[in-house]
Amino acid sequence: MSTPRTDGDVVDLLDPELMRDPFRGFSQIRERAPLARAAFPGQTTPVWLVTRYDDVAAVLSDRRFVNDPAGVPGTGASNVREELVRARGIPAEYARYLLDTVLDADGADHIRLRRLVSRAFTARRVTELRPRVERISEDLLDRLPGHARDGVVDLIEHYAYPLPITVICELVGIAEEDRPLWREWGRGLVRMEPGAVTEPLRDMIAFVRDLIVRRRSEPADDLLTGLIRAHDEDGDRLTDTELITMVLTLVLAGHETTAHLIGNGVAALLAHPGQLGALRADPALLPRAVHELMRWCGPVQGTRFRYAAEDVEIGGMTVRRGEPIMAMLVSANYDPRRFDDPERLDITREPDGRRETHLGFGHGLHYCLGAALARQEAEVAFGMLLSRFPRIEPAVAPEDLERQLVPASWRLARLPVRLN
Ligand code: HEM
Repeated sequence: MSTPRTDGDVVDLLDPELMRDPFRGFSQIRERAPLARAAFPGQTTPVWLVTRYDDVAAVLSDRRFVNDPAGVPGTGASNVREELVRARGIPAEYARYLLDTVLDADGADHIRLRRLVSRAFTARRVTELRPRVERISEDLLDRLPGHARDGVVDLIEHYAYPLPITVICELVGIAEEDRPLWREWGRGLVRMEPGAVTEPLRDMIAFVRDLIVRRRSEPADDLLTGLIRAHDEDGDRLTDTELITMVLTLVLAGHETTAHLIGNGVAALLAHPGQLGALRADPALLPRAVHELMRWCGPVQGTRFRYAAEDVEIGGMTVRRGEPIMAMLVSANYDPRRFDDPERLDITREPDGRRETHLGFGHGLHYCLGAALARQEAEVAFGMLLSRFPRIEPAVAPEDLERQLVPASWRLARLPVRLN
């Protein structure tokens, strides 16, 4: 591929060429230096990108980097995420629901917020959900042929999206008839035109506020009821805004990412018939296959920004106090210093289904809360799709698949296939 377009030494993270194949695109950036400069549209503060496996893991577990720029001693740091949110024309009254999440908190605040929901996502709770995830997947597969037009069905629209959104909505306590709204709002949130995000965000916040009122009078056996209880019993533990923010975070973090792991993963398997055949022949490989697909085509390219609370040296370069840095997971996952022949997809690469080496779910204190759930959904999604349809043929060549251009994310717009 051609060299990613840069402005001087500044990487354009929305360069369509880089977005087409971020995994290979980053190899040149990673080999040039351990840190690169980058810019997003509408953003004035340049950011650092850290690209090598060991450095990415180190930054994500180094307490000298904080997620909340207000935690930088001295003059603080300019909040790059806030700049980006502002550039998208989102009014401050709604923006705070995107800016004050568990991912933007450090120290005791982060622990408090994370602890409130972590019980719902432990390996044990996730295992208990498995039969339900299988049932949802089965229902979607039953209906797939009915969605075909001229024999072609879009797996993103009719399988990869509905599975995780159904799972997370059931878990949180959002009724079936309201779920299509969330699909639409999710679509609206990634639109980049200024102002486009305001309406879906406003509607989502209003929806959650209403749902909280309803659950207060009619408690149910769901995560939202549990959060409301924590809030009402001890108001110090969770403010109203935090309660709404947490629900938004869980639903948004819990469905789009998983949908695109399923989409990218199925596309990758279809493009590698040998690997697909091996997985069909031995479904016990599924947990290892999911680890490898997370590495090879994980949907999250980079983490939230971290801010240096003091000067930090990385590979002979210095990130100054207050400067923002993004950990490039896509780049770390293709680092030849860590993975032999990283461009090769090999579903047997990880020796053990329980452990992962890739950094696609992040690392350190903010390691993905939903990783066990996402892995299980992906295992079920791949396993049941393959066992239901003995032949699945891509209706579009891999290089012609349309991508959605969303910063720091890697996703397909559509995945048209023929099923037999
Ligand atoms: C955090 C990726 C699915 C909830 C993260 C982070 C990554 C990530 C990279 C860390 C970001 C950072 O450090 O800046 C993914 C991927 C998923 C996925 C690739 C699917 C394939 C889920 C699901 C949930 C979820 C299903 C469900 C609830 C969260 C939450 C955090 C998080 C709440 C914040 C944790 C914290 O700040 O302590 N995720 N995620 N994610 N993820 Fe996921």
